[in-house]
Amino acid sequence: MKIVITGGAGFIGSNLAHALTRCGEASEVRVLDDLSTGSRDNLTGADVRFVEGSVLDAALLDRVFRGAETIVHLAALPSVARSVADPLASHHANSTGTLMVLEAARRAGGAHVIAASSSSVYGANPHLPKHEDLRPAPLSPYAVGKLAAESYLASYHHCYDLPVLPFRFFNVYGPRQPAGHDYAAVVPAWINAAMTGQPVLVNGDGLQSRDFTYVETVCRVLTRAVLRKVVSADPVNLAYGTRTSLAELITELEAVLGTPLDPRHLPPRPGDVRHSHAENSRLLNLVPGVRPVPLREGLERTVEWFREQAR
Ligand SMILES: NC(=O)c1ccc[n+]([C@@H]2O[C@H](COP(=O)([O-])OP(=O)(O)OC[C@H]3O[C@@H](n4cnc5c(N)ncnc54)[C@H](O)[C@@H]3O)[C@@H](O)[C@H]2O)c1
Repeated sequence: MKIVITGGAGFIGSNLAHALTRCGEASEVRVLDDLSTGSRDNLTGADVRFVEGSVLDAALLDRVFRGAETIVHLAALPSVARSVADPLASHHANSTGTLMVLEAARRAGGAHVIAASSSSVYGANPHLPKHEDLRPAPLSPYAVGKLAAESYLASYHHCYDLPVLPFRFFNVYGPRQPAGHDYAAVVPAWINAAMTGQPVLVNGDGLQSRDFTYVETVCRVLTRAVLRKVVSADPVNLAYGTRTSLAELITELEAVLGTPLDPRHLPPRPGDVRHSHAENSRLLNLVPGVRPVPLREGLERTVEWFREQAR
């Protein structure tokens, strides 16, 4: 089975590349990545064919997708804050990029396309937990772009019978998630701050909550979905329904790191949602049997990875 991962040099993509090459059922894993936020080093030790380039290059997509059965489309410019700073770049990479991938999959004879959408599409909708039939209410250009992307997947299924699967990822964390940049996610940013004796920066009052999902859990779901050719035109939440406030995350990290953190509160960021908590019966029905890694264990493994990097 030949599988392409777009964005496969990034955080989630590289973890998936390692998982797929280990599982023994993929005859070839190809990675297409323009290295805008990802790194070639993330793929060290993974038996993949790496192609540097953009999903916005149609000719390159045709070359990379030739003979592939499944495309896991993860390439994107992530981060709500980045999209607020540069909405057009976010739109090009995330929405137009997804449309280009779908067109290339169609030209390639109808490859299975699994793509990453985001819990941010629920935005201002206050209903909890978030289930997929809720009205989306995006609060940021990033969320709009992801809603467009997953809608394109549905439309390609309905118009061209393309086998698709749009997953809404919730806050994913774990090894290979970078810390040292302006748009770093909260888990790596705080671990890095704690390990280097800096304060942890909390946007808002810290009572906002997230459904944190360990990257290995995400990769287990993606691997099963690839191998079993799971198809759904409707979006599927990929999280396990745990709700942790940022204040609780600080307590968890203090226990794992064995040291107190030094929180400093900043104003809330525009575009951020208040609470995020997944209802996941659609996921359990389509991809049953995945055991999610609990938050404490996931944080321990993430901290261990950061400590290894620092050695
Ligand atoms: N990490 C999360 O918590 C989270 C939550 C919701 C959704 N997602 C989505 O999951 C996917 C993976 O996210 P991640 O956290 O691994 O981010 P990441 O930035 O580590 O990975 C994205 C990868 O895409 C590549 N890329 C960007 N633009 C490209 C282009 N035009 N052509 C080819 N490659 C390009 C980057 O170089 C990078 O390697 C993204 O689609 C993201 O929007 C992530």
